Amino acid sequence: MSKKLNIGLFGFGVVGQGLYDIIKTKNLNLEIKKIAIKDASKKRSLPEHYFTTDKDELLNNPEINTIIELINDTEAAFDIVSTALKTGKNVVSASKKMIATYLPQLIALQHEYGTSLLYEGSVCGSIPIIRNLEEYYDNELLHSISGIFNGSSNYILSKGFLENLDYSLALKQAQDLGFAETDPISDVGGYDSKYKLVIAAAHAYGVVIDPARIFNFGIQNLAADDMRYAREKNLKIKLVPVAKELDDQHVALFVLPKFVAEHEFLYNVEYEYNGVTVQAAFADQQFFFGKGAGGHPTGSAVLSDIAALRYDYQYEYKKAKSANGLNFTNDIELTIYLRYEDEELIDLLDFKTIDERYYSGTYKYVIGKVNLQKLIDNQSRIYDDKAFIAFADQLTGVSLASANNIT
Ligand SMILES: NC(=O)c1ccc[n+]([C@@H]2O[C@H](COP(=O)([O-])OP(=O)(O)OC[C@H]3O[C@@H](n4cnc5c(N)ncnc54)[C@H](OP(=O)(O)O)[C@@H]3O)[C@@H](O)[C@H]2O)c1
Repeated sequence: MSKKLNIGLFGFGVVGQGLYDIIKTKNLNLEIKKIAIKDASKKRSLPEHYFTTDKDELLNNPEINTIIELINDTEAAFDIVSTALKTGKNVVSASKKMIATYLPQLIALQHEYGTSLLYEGSVCGSIPIIRNLEEYYDNELLHSISGIFNGSSNYILSKGFLENLDYSLALKQAQDLGFAETDPISDVGGYDSKYKLVIAAAHAYGVVIDPARIFNFGIQNLAADDMRYAREKNLKIKLVPVAKELDDQHVALFVLPKFVAEHEFLYNVEYEYNGVTVQAAFADQQFFFGKGAGGHPTGSAVLSDIAALRYDYQYEYKKAKSANGLNFTNDIELTIYLRYEDEELIDLLDFKTIDERYYSGTYKYVIGKVNLQKLIDNQSRIYDDKAFIAFADQLTGVSLASANNIT
């Protein structure tokens, strides 16, 4: 018999409202007791008595046994979630930045207080990847997880490749449609993808990595020339987070634009859709596809977590517990496409050229091997030079999925 959940909901924006729309169509053994919001003067679609701006009305209410945290403020979200976990309330959250930033503390709180925090909606919206990594792949050796984890940047890339729209126009359209924030850096700069990668890697590899240690390079400097180059080779460019086991002691994580070939699942993931490719030792390659954001898709993942709490489901962080001793490293060589102007960049990056440098009209590029740490050391220089880099295994015929070593 499932227990009744009395819910305190934080946030009634895109996801909070989306969750409410879904819940009201169901006859579940749960009740939303109170909703905390920030701005009391906003017009709401529910009667006024539901709402409060006082978080303690939810957190100190002994009747409420479950907190759903769907707000857009990282520090306030951590405060709410940690207080709830400490006071015996189970929590569902979709706040990926907060979860990725505070994951060690959040895991410790769950262990100390015996409470549960679930966050399926925080990684790729409707795609059920966290519970699968935690439960289905618990005994699988995972070679890599990669994918398209951010719908806004993918929307911009699709507009460029499929409709020939340049970066700034595509970004404006994405903002007008509500896919991209006014300040789009989190999406197009690869930060949002990185937070999701951190969370996925905790369940896939048992490593909990501070996001600040992970390299993310976005699509801000992508130029029409780069897209033309990819098209000539029947490739597309996607913004791809990668977690990869390098050997039995090391795992690498990074977010980079990547040349993607037609035979790869990610090639056909367009616009606001997300996709996750899991390369496993025994199951081989598997692919998850679906809507990565939006009120209803994300609300459906949140509801699945709520339903799991009715049976007191908890993540066990099985891979972390199995103490397989994996260490995070940035000491790997990647095959990189670099479009650049200043020759000094080649020296700074210690670029080991594979292909000759080609000059096509107005631009120059080079393909070769670079140590990831060199990219990290020179990241701001690459941005400032308006240069563009992309993971280019497809340009040398070695695919990430089939390679045992990153090339
Ligand atoms: N949108 C998506 O598709 C999506 C997908 C996956 C995950 N997420 C994550 O889910 C969370 C919510 O996203 P969203 O798109 O629903 O955001 P949103 O539309 O901007 O709504 C945010 C809500 O949080 C409320 N809020 C902000 N600070 C608060 C505080 N200190 N106490 C109580 N309420 C507070 C706001 O109140 P007011 O209404 O009074 O302004 C608003 O209702 C974010 O962490 C986001 O990263 C979003």
